[in-house]
Amino acid sequence: MSTARELVAQMTLEEKCSLLSGADFWHTRSIDRLGIKGVMYSDGPHGLRKQDQTGDHLGINDSIKAVCFPAACGTTASFDTDLVRALGEAIGTECQHEEVAVNLGPAINIKRSPLCGRNFEYMSEDPYLAGEMASSLIQGVQSKNIGVSVKHFALNDQEHRRMSSDSVCDERTMREIYLPAFEMAAKKGKAWTFMCSYNKVNGEYASQNKWLLTDLLRGEWGFDGIVMSDWGAVSNRPKGVEAGLDIEMPGSAGINDAEVVKAVREGRLDEKYVDICCERLIEVHNRYLEHADPSTPWDKDADHELAGKLAADCQVLLKNEDGILPLKDSEKIAIIGEFAAKPRFQGGGSSHINCFKITSLLDATADKGVAYAQGYHINSDDEDAALVAEALEKAAAADKVVIVAGLPDSYESEGYDRKHMRIPPNQNALIEKIAAVNPNLVVLLYNGSPVEMPWVGLAKGLIEGYLGGQNVGTANRAVLWGEINPSARLPETLPVRLQDTPCYLTYGGEGNTAVYNEGIFVGYRYYTKKEIPALFPFGYGMSYTSFAYSNLKLSADQIKDTDKVTVTVDVTNTGKIAGKEVVQLYVSDRESDVFRPVRELKGFAKVELQPGETKTVSFELCKRAFAYWNTTIHDWHVETGVFDIQICKDADDVILSAPLTVESTVRIPVTYTEDAIFLDLKNDPKAMAVIGPMMKASMSLFSDEAEQDAKSSAAAEAVSDEMASAMLDYMPLRTLISFSQGKMNHEMLQGILAQING
Ligand code: BGC
Repeated sequence: MSTARELVAQMTLEEKCSLLSGADFWHTRSIDRLGIKGVMYSDGPHGLRKQDQTGDHLGINDSIKAVCFPAACGTTASFDTDLVRALGEAIGTECQHEEVAVNLGPAINIKRSPLCGRNFEYMSEDPYLAGEMASSLIQGVQSKNIGVSVKHFALNDQEHRRMSSDSVCDERTMREIYLPAFEMAAKKGKAWTFMCSYNKVNGEYASQNKWLLTDLLRGEWGFDGIVMSDWGAVSNRPKGVEAGLDIEMPGSAGINDAEVVKAVREGRLDEKYVDICCERLIEVHNRYLEHADPSTPWDKDADHELAGKLAADCQVLLKNEDGILPLKDSEKIAIIGEFAAKPRFQGGGSSHINCFKITSLLDATADKGVAYAQGYHINSDDEDAALVAEALEKAAAADKVVIVAGLPDSYESEGYDRKHMRIPPNQNALIEKIAAVNPNLVVLLYNGSPVEMPWVGLAKGLIEGYLGGQNVGTANRAVLWGEINPSARLPETLPVRLQDTPCYLTYGGEGNTAVYNEGIFVGYRYYTKKEIPALFPFGYGMSYTSFAYSNLKLSADQIKDTDKVTVTVDVTNTGKIAGKEVVQLYVSDRESDVFRPVRELKGFAKVELQPGETKTVSFELCKRAFAYWNTTIHDWHVETGVFDIQICKDADDVILSAPLTVESTVRIPVTYTEDAIFLDLKNDPKAMAVIGPMMKASMSLFSDEAEQDAKSSAAAEAVSDEMASAMLDYMPLRTLISFSQGKMNHEMLQGILAQING
């Protein structure tokens, strides 16, 4: 068989350029005379949206009947890498059956604001969590010889003006917050393909951003797959080819291919870039074609069951006062809310699945003899007096009430951002009224991103159900009646109100420019630093059992930044039933010259424990766990010092902590100029060795005079020691020239600088 390079060598320029865009909405082109076959790409990411008739990227036209799994907002809440791997395997199998080579997902942009319309599709506000979960999901899909497309690369953190907005973000923030999940997807997940985002990144469209697509993704991270455009993201195609955008999707009916041909003919684009894109496309498509097996069975009913099983582990128990949950069969239960009959279990837009079956909470509890009242209309903000009256009557007659509330489709979707964090007013009002007639109230939420909960104090039980996929009802029933023990944790902070959120002041940007002003302080990194209480913090979630931690041990108490350290901790199930705990490890830098978050998640593990059982959980930490991105060396850097290794219940609650000293093996090079201040020189032993004696002598040249003056001045008493030393510390070297009254000149100072700078 010919290699990709040999095949490309046989092609005309026109043939090569024809491969650089889709044949239609979903297929790539073939070249029959060379035996090159086109393949199909399909959405993603929560199931299969395969359109075999009219194509669109908005989820408008029908797709084949398929299975909708829980959305990423929920699956990430499982903190369970095995769970998302199983999800990936199921999606990969479905794709094999349907002859889809690449499933367009996972979507792993950081949840910068709860307002982002697409947060339901994204994983977390934390890059480490998003990166780990994405990598396992990718490995699951790709184990079936199906590719993923990691999207939307990069900084696509809002829907507002999504195809033109320029995400303006500083280097450190990109490296620490917005890029690591993509980095892990490339390095650990070994994704076959990436999808570039619509937006610009620091002034250049992602679809033609050479730094992003080539220098970083391929050069630094070693990505060997293909980059496709988001649907319609191409602006200047020849520029994109040179930048490393292999294929334009959907195709532009040959118009942009012709632009590329022209650019090569006119000498504006080196043909080698066209060749490289073609070689990569052939190689990656062959990974699928060589193992394509449409005879792979797809058991939809089995996947429906799997969707329900996964969803059960994705619901976060947030409140359980007086042990109101789990519900008991002996109790009279009223279920209120139209969502109980017509669940919202997926988001709108390109991820929208045409489900072959839907199981609502009412369907799933048909054998439980519950009373039901609709309570509100999903698609209206107005109260319906008759529905409210019926709901109150049924609630009053019950032992306990479960009200299902949340965001209707119109409140959050791909394509636009939310304007507020509220659920419809008629639902809020109903919850308050029900609480007045029956205090034994459980609220179950269906939503893709955080909502304000003005009634939170009135609900004894609270479950964040996220968007649970087509078998959501079975999952809800399992958690409500304790058929499974809830074990999910929040992959994002639930803030009290929108005004508390990190980018409240500037989210969405002005015109086409969105400046990431809050820098690295995103999600819990912001709330913990500012000590703004969250409604529920990142990592929070309850269980029907209890856990205790002990024996936190480090393999060393002092390491170099080139070493690794092993952390172990014992976890015991101290309750009466089996359960799963999410062990969370955070690292906190005690002292730093740069701004750092209070703590950052650097490890997590999900462990299942029988009552009374203890397991030892182990983590390995290396340089990245302690490092920040240094903009002088443009690399990760660890400052020598003490770090606290913290085992936490959530981002706010430290259970055990142990100190670790890490010594840096890297010296950040500094070049001092005449503008360098004494304080920085004082803190640099190497500089002080040279300048220390000189500084003393030089200072006395003028400080004697200054002292004389000060003594004779009536203001002498006002000059405190602190003020005097601060004044000296903050003085630039160049002031030696003016203050020494001619005893120091520029030549002498340059001589000193030459010595310090070595
Ligand atoms: C979305 C992508 C999706 C593509 C194809 C775009 O509008 O941003 O996430 O994969 O359409 O449907």
